[in-house]
Amino acid sequence: MTLLNFQTVDLAPAAQDFLGEVMKGLSQPVKTLAPKYFYDDHGMELFEKICELPEYYVTRTELSIMDELSSFALPASGQLAVIELGGASSFKFRRLQRSLADIGMYIPVDICRQALFHEAQKLARDCPELKVMALCADYQQLESFPWETYTAGFTPVVYFPGSTIGNLTPSEAKSLLKMLRRIVGPNGYVLLGCDLVKPLTTLIPAYDDAQGVTAEFNLNLLRRINRELGANFDLHQFRHEIRYNTDENKIEMHLVSLASQTVQLAGTTLQFAKGESIHTEDSRKFTRQAIEKLAAESGFCIDQWWTDSRDYFAITLLGSVTSANILSMRANQSADSSHPFLRRAEHSPTSSAARA
Ligand SMILES: C[S@@+](CC[C@H](N)C(=O)[O-])C[C@H]1O[C@@H](n2cnc3c(N)ncnc32)[C@H](O)[C@@H]1O
Repeated sequence: MTLLNFQTVDLAPAAQDFLGEVMKGLSQPVKTLAPKYFYDDHGMELFEKICELPEYYVTRTELSIMDELSSFALPASGQLAVIELGGASSFKFRRLQRSLADIGMYIPVDICRQALFHEAQKLARDCPELKVMALCADYQQLESFPWETYTAGFTPVVYFPGSTIGNLTPSEAKSLLKMLRRIVGPNGYVLLGCDLVKPLTTLIPAYDDAQGVTAEFNLNLLRRINRELGANFDLHQFRHEIRYNTDENKIEMHLVSLASQTVQLAGTTLQFAKGESIHTEDSRKFTRQAIEKLAAESGFCIDQWWTDSRDYFAITLLGSVTSANILSMRANQSADSSHPFLRRAEHSPTSSAARA
């Protein structure tokens, strides 16, 4: 049955781009692979398992904050268009629908095509009043995407949950937020989920669980490169390893070579020394000050800030810094001088945003 409220746009990176990035990353003095390539269908299934693990507090905590936000009103006129980055699975958006009234359009963006299109179609079937446009793309490459074609008449709200922003370098995060600032314009918002700095006794097991699901997720990247790019990585010759980088407040995931070995990839022989690592992912942990700074540098101010009772995770509503609220912030600077673009954030989970 054709769904009149559902469409797809496919701008997925080509296999050639995947090969180019893998080659480039594995030819560096410190070998790297981009975490966006974790998510083939099996990687997606493994990530869903990770979200259920007792050690992985991230998803549970973020959802518990969302449950507290029984309803919150954005001072927006008309219906909202929610653009979700990393929206291959719609379960967080379904929670958001409970809290955020009047969503007329939903645009999930993800690089994992099959899961994205399947889930988005299911949502369109379940919510006939909602227009759904699933966009398969690398969300860091959407600078010239014609957003207005899809969001005209709506107030745009970008939803970026799961602390996926923590996978980016600080300069990538700033570039992405600047792009989001252009997408949402002066009247839109970004709803951002960020994992906060916390003791290593909680952090390390979250990325190195007792059942080895995260290890399997990490190694699956090599399996994917073998299958899609014809490489011959021996998965038994690499080990999952977690490191905490205290200078940058980030968990690093690595795959460490257990032997001196060579791997064939697209006619090239790659050398791995025993103990050499492939750095596969960063998960940066944030302080409130770091989020405030990142927001301000990207042209946003914090309209609201919600966290859980342990301060493990924060959901932040970012609004655009418009000339009107700059004036209001100048007036407020004596009350809060921590940053010129920062407005006082509300702490109550049920309070509504008060934009200038
Ligand atoms: C850590 S998972 C988070 C999933 C879910 N949003 C959550 O909050 O639990 C990251 C998701 O973002 C997608 N993703 C990662 N990097 C991406 C990129 N550069 N462009 C598009 N999607 C990306 C992955 O395919 C995956 O679905």
